Amino acid sequence: MTTQHTSRIPGFYKLPLAERVSRIADWAGLTAGEQQVLLGSSGLGAEQAGHMIENAIGIYALPLGIATNFLVNDQDYLIPMVIEEPSVVAAVSNAARLFREGGGFTTSSDEPVMIGQIQVLDLPDIQAAAEAVLANRDALMAEADRVGGSIVKHGGGARGIEVRPFPETPAGPMLIIHLLYDTRDAMGANAINTAAEHLATQIEAITGGRVNLRILSNLTDRRKARAEGMIPAVELETDSLAGEQVVKSIVEAGVFAAIDPYRAATHNKGIMNGIDPVVIATGNDWRAIEAGAHAYAARDGQYTSLTQWWQDDDGNLRGLIELPLAVGIVGGATRVHPTAGLALKIMKIQSARQLAEVIAAVGLAQNLAAMRALATVGIQQGHMRMHAKQLAVAAGATGDLVARVVQTMIEEGNIRLERAKALVHGLAGTSD
Ligand code: MEV
Repeated sequence: MTTQHTSRIPGFYKLPLAERVSRIADWAGLTAGEQQVLLGSSGLGAEQAGHMIENAIGIYALPLGIATNFLVNDQDYLIPMVIEEPSVVAAVSNAARLFREGGGFTTSSDEPVMIGQIQVLDLPDIQAAAEAVLANRDALMAEADRVGGSIVKHGGGARGIEVRPFPETPAGPMLIIHLLYDTRDAMGANAINTAAEHLATQIEAITGGRVNLRILSNLTDRRKARAEGMIPAVELETDSLAGEQVVKSIVEAGVFAAIDPYRAATHNKGIMNGIDPVVIATGNDWRAIEAGAHAYAARDGQYTSLTQWWQDDDGNLRGLIELPLAVGIVGGATRVHPTAGLALKIMKIQSARQLAEVIAAVGLAQNLAAMRALATVGIQQGHMRMHAKQLAVAAGATGDLVARVVQTMIEEGNIRLERAKALVHGLAGTSD
């Protein structure tokens, strides 16, 4: 089979599962053993799970899908997504195709700088303490680098010290010190926590106060990723709506999310429908990513949308996403979990920043998919098709009988298990 160089693979979803695996193997140069990992016949075993967490009793499996059509900074990507929710992978692939028509995504990201927080209390003079910390900035950064290990060897390490005095709190005057720390290709939780803990003694000596907590912040707003893209209005046309009308409705939907936290929560949930599955597939900490995203969405005091949508001068739709994305490609589960390593290989990821940028693009595409459906036919239509498919399978349909049972139930507007069972019985043994 010839190697695919494009992620635009029409009909990928129609291929038998084994053929899909073989296409991905061809795309990423996967060995026979690696394909077995994807198929679940090897990969993370109970034994290995027992080394990852405590009290392990087994493995909990989830579907791993591939989103197609992504073009990010002129490079094609196939995106591994781990998710239990139907429609997400199809919807994001479709949205990526629309962005592709507009030239694909353009992305950028910050240096991978994490924040370590050190809480200081019992301070007689909080202002003097803050000044003393800043005066000792270089010494503190050098000390943090001393325990930086491989991250410092790879060019990472301390990048700054900041002070945030809270003169009046229920616990008395409190000085929060931020250690800014570049963790390179690691998510870096261990590195930043080690550095923050290590600085405690020196900070107590400098401030005359008492250090309490020493821990990273998941509001990683020094480590943001951005993705932007355009969709030609004509691509948004439906049977009953002109493209320009759909652009307008989507822009209005974006404003709804920008002004109303009740809508913003659902809007951002839809964005995380795209982001979390890639974060999970690559063995990254999705709770950290969720915490950072939502805290960032509330940064100005009112919870709001993580994306912006507008109509450009040519009448086309443009979207932009920006959010903290502290993901790594070394350390943690990223290299321990066999499937996580494969996910990185399928995406051909070379750096943590590249991964963060691709994930941002997936979030933007997922958001577009939801808004486009909501602003036109609603989301139930697509969901009903997936629901019908699940019923057909539950009723015992296999192979191409599944599609025929689904189509009949949809045409009849009768999507129920009893009907699926009757159709399986009636249609089995017949063909188109
Ligand atoms: C469903 O999982 C996600 C949506 O509700 C997102 C949205 O409303 O934008 C469709």
